[in-house]
Amino acid sequence: MAAAAPIRLASSSSLTLVASTCSSSFIFTKFRSIPHLRFSFSVTTAANATSGNSLLFCSRRGKRMAHTLAKATLGLTHPAEIESHKISLAAKDIDLVEWKGDILAVGVTEKDMIKDENSKFQNVTLKKLDSQLHGLLSQVSIEEDFTGRVGQSTILRISGHGTKRVSLVGLGKGPTGSSSSSSTSAYRSLGESIATSAKASQANNVAVAIASSQDLTPEFKLTTASAIATGALLGTYEDNRFKSEPKKLPALKSIDFLGLGGGPELEKKLKYTEDVCSGVILGKELVNAPPNVLTPGVLAEEAEKIALTYSDVFSAKILDTEQCKELKMGSFLGVAAASENPPKFIHLCYKPANGSIKTKLAIVGKGLTFDSGGYNIKTGPGCLIELMKFDMGGSAAVLGAAKALAQIKPPGVEVHFIVAACENMISGTGMRPGDILTASNGKTIEVNNTDAEGRLTLADALVYACNQGVDKIVDLATLTGACIVALGPSIAGIFTSSDELAKEVVAASEVAGEKLWRLPMEESYWDSMKSGVADMVNTGGRQGGSITAALFLKQFVDEKVEWLHIDMAGPVWNDKKKAATGFAVPTLVQWVVANSSSSS
Ligand code: BES
Ligand code: MN
Ligand code: ZN
Repeated sequence: MAAAAPIRLASSSSLTLVASTCSSSFIFTKFRSIPHLRFSFSVTTAANATSGNSLLFCSRRGKRMAHTLAKATLGLTHPAEIESHKISLAAKDIDLVEWKGDILAVGVTEKDMIKDENSKFQNVTLKKLDSQLHGLLSQVSIEEDFTGRVGQSTILRISGHGTKRVSLVGLGKGPTGSSSSSSTSAYRSLGESIATSAKASQANNVAVAIASSQDLTPEFKLTTASAIATGALLGTYEDNRFKSEPKKLPALKSIDFLGLGGGPELEKKLKYTEDVCSGVILGKELVNAPPNVLTPGVLAEEAEKIALTYSDVFSAKILDTEQCKELKMGSFLGVAAASENPPKFIHLCYKPANGSIKTKLAIVGKGLTFDSGGYNIKTGPGCLIELMKFDMGGSAAVLGAAKALAQIKPPGVEVHFIVAACENMISGTGMRPGDILTASNGKTIEVNNTDAEGRLTLADALVYACNQGVDKIVDLATLTGACIVALGPSIAGIFTSSDELAKEVVAASEVAGEKLWRLPMEESYWDSMKSGVADMVNTGGRQGGSITAALFLKQFVDEKVEWLHIDMAGPVWNDKKKAATGFAVPTLVQWVVANSSSSS
């Protein structure tokens, strides 16, 4: 039988955090120091862990109360605990011909590949490397017609040199010949190609250099190193939690950056990049997890885990159905009503340990752990019902950003992370088409389509966010299929009445290398959202579906608060890779940092 055990902050393979609350009472716990915690956790024995019937023992009052917290996970699936894999990133102040290790990867532009009349490189770096390799590099590039185009790469196995392999990776026209966002994506691809070749040859250590790095400004070197690191870290990551055969951990242990500067600024940038990537990976894992495993309750536990791990800057509050009822969240609870898995309203608060707060922000994410459509069930080819686990992509971005910011700890900014998490299911207790719901700001909504559920959950989440006294809100949601029709799979739509906030978020996305496109909030389209009996309906016609959705959300935002909505229905998922992207984490982190007092 499991015994109450002391809390360990970091999750480990032997200890399972089975639950959070001891009593059904409302909690707002500041996880500041362990003795004050109002929780206790139990070690789950192998037997009850596999049955999934986790028992929670609450020993707060010295009494042992056992609650059956969750039913056995449907299908008996449990994610494997994967050891986290660390790749160290470092600037090295040595010439690339002197570097010793497994792979030396050199990023080259089309211009760098131009050769003189003797078929020799003009670029100094390549010339030096080529002569060290007795002309092999120029010879191979001619034979393989390697011209430095984006996506081209070649690798040579050599012997008798410091490095075992040399790889050339195409960067296309390079920074001067292209826009900054396409050069960021070319450097990111260079990082990905490093990950691929390291995987193929089981390399432990890799160095990366840019053939014409001497032409780059110090500022550009920093962004270049960061983009390469992002590509390499995310390219190395594989989500194998649900495969029965445990895959081997990647061999790659270190990446050295040659000729891209050094010192504390680069170190800080690389640490920031690592932190953001850890948030992106959390975002991917949350979205990839199937809906029988990642229920609203489990999503809430994941949020609490962040608050526990980073208790110096985070506190957590999880509201259950009763508490949401007290706050009159009829719109959110309407969506949750059909499910056996109870809804959870998640609120994490980030506050830096010291210094005054300059700006208060909220980030709100749609958290539908599954969207069946409800009575307006998703049917027919292309409805993607089997992929509707990704309908919590907004909340995954919220929690991913929280995890990254917990490590970065920007000063002077308070951030509220809010998710109204539930499932949109079908049952006798579920909302019907035609029902009228009353949201927490008192507005009434006639549900003319149960599949337009995301906006119903966001309505109460936005009212709640405004009540936190924040200056600005960004919400993220896989809200409309119409947004994918408009912008395709890799661009998110943004909607706001604030030109200022649009500028801020677009600027953040450009630094982060993510694609956003502003769409209009056409007020005249509100006509289609009028109801005969309630204040509004929840869906307009087929036309302009993303715009009417945004206009709906606006009804729940205080006019004094600057607000921007991101429809990320397209970019949440990579169809080719059959995997989540972790979209929006880098943009959100960058936006918060830009609002902190570390950037003036
Ligand atoms: N989660 C979906 C939106 C979605 C659909 C995202 C396909 C990604 C791919 C959302 O809840 C939804 O069902 N929206 C409806 C709205 C409609 C009923 C007005 C849609 O887009 O079809
Ligand atoms: Mn839906
Ligand atoms: Zn949905």
